[in-house]
Amino acid sequence: MKKKLKLGLFGFGCVGQGLYHVLNETHGVKAEIKKICIKHHGKTRPIDASYFTYDPSEVLNDPEIDVIVELIDDAYAAFAIVKKALENGKHVVTANKKMLAEHLEEIYELQQKHNRSVLYEGAVCGSIPIIRNLEEYYDNDLIRSIEGIFNGSTNYILTKVFEERKNYFEALKAAQDLGFAESDPSLDVEGFDPKFKLAIAIAHTFGVFVKPEDIINIGIQKISAVDLKYARENNLTIKLVARAYKSEGNIFGFVAPQFIPLDHNLASVRNEYNAVLVEGAFAEKQVFIGKGAGSYPTGSAVLSDISALVFDYRYEYKKFEQGDGLPFSNEVFADVVVSFPDGTLITNRDFEVFKGGYQGSGHQYLKGSVSLKKIKEWSLWDDVSVILAPDPNLTAINQAKTQELLSA
Ligand code: HSE
Repeated sequence: MKKKLKLGLFGFGCVGQGLYHVLNETHGVKAEIKKICIKHHGKTRPIDASYFTYDPSEVLNDPEIDVIVELIDDAYAAFAIVKKALENGKHVVTANKKMLAEHLEEIYELQQKHNRSVLYEGAVCGSIPIIRNLEEYYDNDLIRSIEGIFNGSTNYILTKVFEERKNYFEALKAAQDLGFAESDPSLDVEGFDPKFKLAIAIAHTFGVFVKPEDIINIGIQKISAVDLKYARENNLTIKLVARAYKSEGNIFGFVAPQFIPLDHNLASVRNEYNAVLVEGAFAEKQVFIGKGAGSYPTGSAVLSDISALVFDYRYEYKKFEQGDGLPFSNEVFADVVVSFPDGTLITNRDFEVFKGGYQGSGHQYLKGSVSLKKIKEWSLWDDVSVILAPDPNLTAINQAKTQELLSA
């Protein structure tokens, strides 16, 4: 174990400043910031100017720096920094979920090659210690599913819209002002950000590296006043749910809004809080809840990774090494409620199993089972909103076809 780790930071935004704060407040962690590389000239910085440089090589090539803490929001530049840091023999802590999701397999290989560690607890559900738990606690448990609220901004927006009847754009603006939202907030509201986190979680849950483009994501941006009314009238709320599960020899995973009964574990998870529900064969159901966004909560997850490095911790990617290597699939039917204005070309014949609907005030609702791919397609149409049913009755398409043949 080293006496005191010297850190080189990239970025000093919301999370970087959070880390600075929590590091100063925590006396037990043997680490100190040596240098911070920033991009924008002329910004007023809350700490002494001697910390800062605009030259990445001053941080990456400093032999005294043991750990690169990468906290910028440009995934492309972040990956270059991570690669260079590992090549230069440094460990890395990062909270960049997009970069990790897009390059996780390569990052896994780079860690082996350079015998260095890349830790990223802060990248998945902020302050919830889910990655290390998946790696360590659930090592011998057979996890069936992992699901939950993986994005703080959208949960904050949905909370404000439901509880305070705030307008969607007003709520989004508040999430941006509080530093929860991505600099491109469409990553949050369209469900990309939780999908990146899900891709990372899938690697540590099921040992499968899935490209984010292979995971279907549907966001909350189409949810309308009609949907909110439907939810209220039926004692439901709406949450953006990320989920992955093992079934029929496949790993399924996707992100989509879902009607949630008010007595469900996720219903009471409000504002920027996230929740992760893990279901294992032996431990059965467990729920983790914590702040999923924000300066100090994310800073605290980054600090925990730095602290782990003091003790030479590294992820072993145990599920991957154990090698089930199950294929990833999107071929699933889910029960949904689709709402759209009259004149939209959706009918009961589009459903695999149609379960009813109604029409009123120029608007229609149809309920039933549809393939995930069709749900995604509909979600891209103007004024169409698709929300998973409270019990989405997920069925692998092959399994459904087999049942159909057997009962024919
Ligand atoms: N934009 C992200 C969120 C930040 O709202 O969850 C934390 O990853």
